[in-house]
Amino acid sequence: MKTLKISSFSEYEKQYEFSVSNPELFWDGVASTFLWKKKWDKTLTWNFEEPKVRWFEGATLNITENIFERNLPLKKDQLALIWEANDPSQTNRTYTFEELHHSVNQCANGLKALGITKGDRVCIYLPMVPELTIAVLACARIGAVHSVVFAGFSATSLSDRINDADAKLVITSDGLNRGTKQMSLKELVDEAISTTTSIEKVLVLKVTNEECPITESRDIWWHELIQNQSIICPAEVMNSEDNLFILYTSGSTGKPKGVVHTCGGYMVYTAYTFMNVYQYEDGDIHWCTADIGWITGHSYIVYGPLLCGATTVMFEGIPTYPEASRFWEIVEKYNVTQFLTAPTAIRSIMAFGEEPTQKHDLSSLKIIGTVGEPINEEAWHWYQDNIGKGTCPVVDNWWQTETGGIMISGIGGISPQKPTFAGYPLPGIQPVLLNQEGEEIKENEQEGYLCIKFPWPSMIRTTYGNHERCKEAYFSQYPGYYFTGDGAKRDTDGMYRIIGRIDDVINVSGHRFGTAEIENAINQNELIIESAVVGYPHPIKGQSIYAFVVCEHVPNDLNEARKAILLTVTDEIGKIALPEKIQFVSGLPKTRSGKIMRRILRKIAEGELDNLGDVSTLLDPSVVEDIVTNRL
Ligand code: WTA
Repeated sequence: MKTLKISSFSEYEKQYEFSVSNPELFWDGVASTFLWKKKWDKTLTWNFEEPKVRWFEGATLNITENIFERNLPLKKDQLALIWEANDPSQTNRTYTFEELHHSVNQCANGLKALGITKGDRVCIYLPMVPELTIAVLACARIGAVHSVVFAGFSATSLSDRINDADAKLVITSDGLNRGTKQMSLKELVDEAISTTTSIEKVLVLKVTNEECPITESRDIWWHELIQNQSIICPAEVMNSEDNLFILYTSGSTGKPKGVVHTCGGYMVYTAYTFMNVYQYEDGDIHWCTADIGWITGHSYIVYGPLLCGATTVMFEGIPTYPEASRFWEIVEKYNVTQFLTAPTAIRSIMAFGEEPTQKHDLSSLKIIGTVGEPINEEAWHWYQDNIGKGTCPVVDNWWQTETGGIMISGIGGISPQKPTFAGYPLPGIQPVLLNQEGEEIKENEQEGYLCIKFPWPSMIRTTYGNHERCKEAYFSQYPGYYFTGDGAKRDTDGMYRIIGRIDDVINVSGHRFGTAEIENAINQNELIIESAVVGYPHPIKGQSIYAFVVCEHVPNDLNEARKAILLTVTDEIGKIALPEKIQFVSGLPKTRSGKIMRRILRKIAEGELDNLGDVSTLLDPSVVEDIVTNRL
């Protein structure tokens, strides 16, 4: 790949300056390194009012041709994908670029045989197995829009996402392996689609080989569908602004939104950021421990690395199975050169001490990354000292599902690093900090609301099926800006530190949940009249969920009632959203207009009891006393 790789800090400064003064020319240059079937007529059209953002309009391409056809001449026999099973004794699976190309084409032809065509939505609900990557790329090959749903979500969440996207097909498996556990998935899918109308077929992959229910007229085995498919599948011609995928994420209101990303801009930006942040060189082995059910997996396991011709590692299991040294065993086994994980994983491994990190040779590592939530200073140092052996640069990648790719981050070994600071914006990214009044804060050493004032190629285009929601959630708080929902601080050198969400979003172990989403789930339980949830600091998960619940009658057995509420949340969202604490309260602190004063609940959950602020405006100030007295 002809590159625009940044190789020194002064070059970064030059590229950055150029990308701000001449954004269109800058991105023209980056985009021209890709394979387009037809070049664009116009680089960028935009306004943040509607909002309307179009990159590389008039161009046609297929993102999988940029992974395969563009890389194959030089990389046919190089590994594209290495898959490590949950069980370390199970043989790994590897695919060269040519093998992966053939598998993707076979799957793409299989999807066509099921009647899937360009523009159809395909829901993918699979564990971390190679077929997940294959299915994603097969959709892209034929122009179907993939909507990957993390396999930890419940049947209800899956059903909501299928309905919202009006998906025609679900791709799933009999079950999944996770540490010592096996879980079935197919039953959840059957339950989910009992409340959907759009699904015509279910494609089922054997992963655990457990018995699972099959409906003959509707369900098809993956291995039967794929076995006689051709390894040749011409790539569908896509417009730059055609939808590539939908990925659901939580905001501060209502149900999760389907964030829409499009073909051209997403391709250009994920490849560019991967190449630079991770300073990719031929022969590098990149391992990102995220799940492909989240944006990090989409952009930095699948698309970014494969577009750049890198070898990408996919891991089915968890960091601590069978031992706390599992990550490092894998790093050593495959000579991983770039490693990316989340602060929550670092903290959970830290809890086992240094010994597990010393059992394996980590000298192959060149750059280590952290993503998904703010990293505390202690974890940052532990990571650099024990994993990076004091010499690997640590890159802290700040970005979001909506941004498609990394926005503010160190560039491995090139830009200065400072613990807990994500660093400088990448070329093309124009962040600003706004004050309460929505004015740009020009001085450094200040905190403000983090917004972005100019478009970049992989930014959210819309929320699927409801453009108004996109406008409301991201473009209406501060007209003219993209609003991130995060608070940040800029230091004297202009480096950014992300402080955390300033809206009603809780980040638990790097997973985003809206407070309203969790409250709606809790309220489904018949015991509950109303509830309010807030986040509070947790030493490993970053944040944990504290739920205040009001019941008609206080249950006799509080523990049983708690269990019932947890079960409801598991059914409605999934185990990943379980509250750590559930307090039964007589009432919630509300203003006279009926608004819940979350600020007070947050302080109580955090234990800041001396500093609850003014409670006199509450409808019934006595509830606060009651909550404080019975605080968990
Ligand atoms: C948070 C994950 C601090 C932030 C890529 C953001 C971070 C939300 C960082 C997006 C980081 C992500 N430092 N906070 N390096 N990365 N966040 O959509 O609050 O799952 O708004 O995307 O995670 O979460 P999402």
